[in-house]
Order: sequence, then C-alpha cells, then structure tokens
Amino acid sequence: EDIVFGLGEANRGINKRGSLYTSFCTDDPIHTEEKVSLYGAHNLIIVSGKEIFGLFFDYPGALTFDIGYSHIDNMEIRCEDADLDLYEITGEDAYDITRQFRRMIGRSYIPPKFAFGYGQSRWGYKTREDFETVVNEYREHHIPLDLLYMDIDYMDDYKDFTVNTENFPDFKAFTAQMKEQGIHLIPIIDAGVKIEEGYDVYEEGIAGGYFCKKKNGEPFEACVWPGLTHLPDFLDPKAREWFGSKYKRLLDAGIEGFWNDMNEPAIFYSPKGRDELLSYLDGYGDDRNAFDHEELHARVHGLANSPKDYRDFYHDVNGKKIRHDKVHNLYGSNMTRAASEAFARYAPDKQILMFSRSSYIGMHRYGGIWMGDNRSWWSHLLLNLKMLPSLNMCGFLYIGADLGGFGADTTEDLLLRWLALGVFTPLMRNHSALGTREQECYRF
Ligand code: GLC
Repeated sequence: EDIVFGLGEANRGINKRGSLYTSFCTDDPIHTEEKVSLYGAHNLIIVSGKEIFGLFFDYPGALTFDIGYSHIDNMEIRCEDADLDLYEITGEDAYDITRQFRRMIGRSYIPPKFAFGYGQSRWGYKTREDFETVVNEYREHHIPLDLLYMDIDYMDDYKDFTVNTENFPDFKAFTAQMKEQGIHLIPIIDAGVKIEEGYDVYEEGIAGGYFCKKKNGEPFEACVWPGLTHLPDFLDPKAREWFGSKYKRLLDAGIEGFWNDMNEPAIFYSPKGRDELLSYLDGYGDDRNAFDHEELHARVHGLANSPKDYRDFYHDVNGKKIRHDKVHNLYGSNMTRAASEAFARYAPDKQILMFSRSSYIGMHRYGGIWMGDNRSWWSHLLLNLKMLPSLNMCGFLYIGADLGGFGADTTEDLLLRWLALGVFTPLMRNHSALGTREQECYRF
C-alpha cells in the first residue's frame, strides 16, 4: 500500500509507483504516457507507507528510477558514475518530510505581483500591430489581461537580446505604451546564441571564451531556431555573469520579465550529426530506393537531442573540464541563475518575472517553470493538475502549463476547463504553437 511521491515534473499521477522515470532534461513535445523524461530533473522521492522516508539524489547526470515497475515491491535507482550525494530525510509523514526538504533547499522564488495575473501568448505574434490587436480585442471583450508574452518572432533573426527594428521602430516607447494600458511584456530568451559575424553577443562570447567547447577547444555548434548557434557555458561563473548582463538591455527598455527556453539544451542537430547523415546518404549513390528504410528513419529521428552530441562538448567549471552529459541536468537551471543574479545586480529593488523550461531542484530559488510543450488534449489538463503538487514538493511554486494546450487544435470546452484550473495556478498563461487553431479567449 506504500505510496511514492515526488519527481516534480514527471509523467503519471501523484503516486509514482509502478513505472520508470529518467531524470535527463529533454526537449520532447509529445508528452505521451510512456515517456520517461520531460524538461526537468527533480530527484526527490518520498516513500509513504509502513516506513516513511524521503530521498534526494543530488546528481547532475542521467538518473533512472524503477519505482515498482520491474517488480511492484522493489525500487531501483541507477546512476552512471559513483559521484552522487544522497540525502535521507526522516519525518513523521510525507508532509513533514516535504517541509524539512523545502527548508533544506532554500526559499522559493517570488515573482512580482503582476505575474499572478492572466497572460496571453502565442508563437507567431510578430509586429507591434499583432500585439496591439490582442490587447484591443481583450479590452473590447471585457476580458482581463495583464501580461503579453513575446515569442521568438520579436527578435531580429532569433538573435538573443535583439529586437526587430522594422517591427518595433521604437521598442522603449512600445513597452511604455503597453504599460500605460496595464500590460507587462514578457519576451522569450533562448539558450543558443546565433553564429553571425557582426552580432555583438556572438562576438563577445567568442572573445571571452564563454561558449561550450569541443575537446579540441573549438566552440561546439548546435542548430536551433536561429540556425547554427553556440551554447553559452552557464556552468562557468564568468560566462554566467556575461550572459546575465545582456538582460540589462531589455530591462533598460522597460521589460519586467522573461521566459528562458530551449535550455535543456535542445539541439535540432549538430553539424557532425548532419554530416554523418549526409555521408550515409551519399553512400547509396543515386539509387534512392536502396536505402535501408528503418536505418534511415532511425538516423533522421536520432539527429535531435542526440546523446552523441551531449558527449561532444565540455564545460569549464573553475578550471576543470567537465563533459556535458555528466552535468546535463544543470544547464537550464544555470541559465536561469545567470538571469536571476543579473536581476539582483541591475534591478535590486524590483521583482523581475522569470521562468524557465528546463530546471533542476535548486533552480526554484531563481525562478519558476512552465511545463513545456503540452497539447490540446484532455489528458494533458489532468497531467497539468497532477504535476502541480509534485513540483511544489520540490520547491517550485511559480508554475503553470500552457492553458488550452500548446500543440494541436484546442476546443472551446477544453480551453474553458483549462482556464478554470489556470485561475489556481500562479503562472496563468494561454500559449499555443504556430500553425494551431487560434485560442485567445476572444476567439470564442
Ligand atoms: C519551444 C517552446 C514554446 C515556444 C517555441 C517557439 O517549443 O517550448 O513555448 O513557443 O519553442 O519559441
């Protein structure tokens, strides 16, 4: 009858017993039931039954949990390297253990008050007019709106810390005008920095040696939305300070919050992976029908977030080189830490909104999270609800999911139900993917 609580952002119900889980932050937009990894790594479990105890595995690499899957009464937790800190927490009950754990890991991030309001987001808003239309429609329909999220299209060619000047000729005036109407603009920041001569963030990163490097010392290349990018080495305190300082540009333009994305880090493909695929194709010459269809399928699908790529670059941690896959689960958290530490430097008297897609326990001190690319499925509304208490146990309080569902087309009844739950989630944001049905409340 024992119940196993924990694991924060993970599949299944609040009782984790009976299944497999792997803590390895993963950009996977299809959260079906069999998936073992989502975007976060939250290695806390609490066993509550005849015996009651909590276990926290402070371990930055891949960690697998077999919680009564192979045998309903056994639990097996495996790591690759022996370097793991294990905390055992004893207490009266699960609540008591959670309380102690929360005390141990430190106080949770508190957002500005406006961040508890309702926010509208959609991947695809591009111009100043697009944003103004959303505000006007909400106002005309007398539906409250407090935040408006800016997805990647506000940037110039998806370059971090730039704003497209054609679409926003005077960005500062725009943020001021929105603020006058009670709207807080919240732009996205992605982990990868576009490789482009003349782009100052790229050039500074190269000059300072702030990007993750391959064994031979060259910066590692990863393809994401902007095309080829370099990944800032957020585990290096100097790189963290440098990247954090870039947020100041947007703070100076009147921005009061951000969402950090693609920070597992997500990799569509690496040039090495791409070239291996191309030379495999070349190996077949002109006979296109000669391909081994299964192998081709596996190779194409294996390009994204490949374990090979995660073994191909290194972090510089206080002068020590550490292979990325060994500390993979700390990457997104340290991006968010970079931002949070910068906010303390540049806006010490202000609360800045910050939430991230990828996270590790401890990041709850720097920001909140959203639950990533869910879909407009009723089962995901339930999953959203079930993840909330598990995340709270791990210290994450400012949390929420894309209301209405990110991928796939929503329906009016599903959106309504999701909004009804969203009222009770601190992060209350309607967000959807490019190409899906438009789901701002006024569309219905
Ligand atoms: C990722 C994010 C999603 C965002 C999209 C485009 O899929 O999870 O929220 O809209 O990238 O930036």
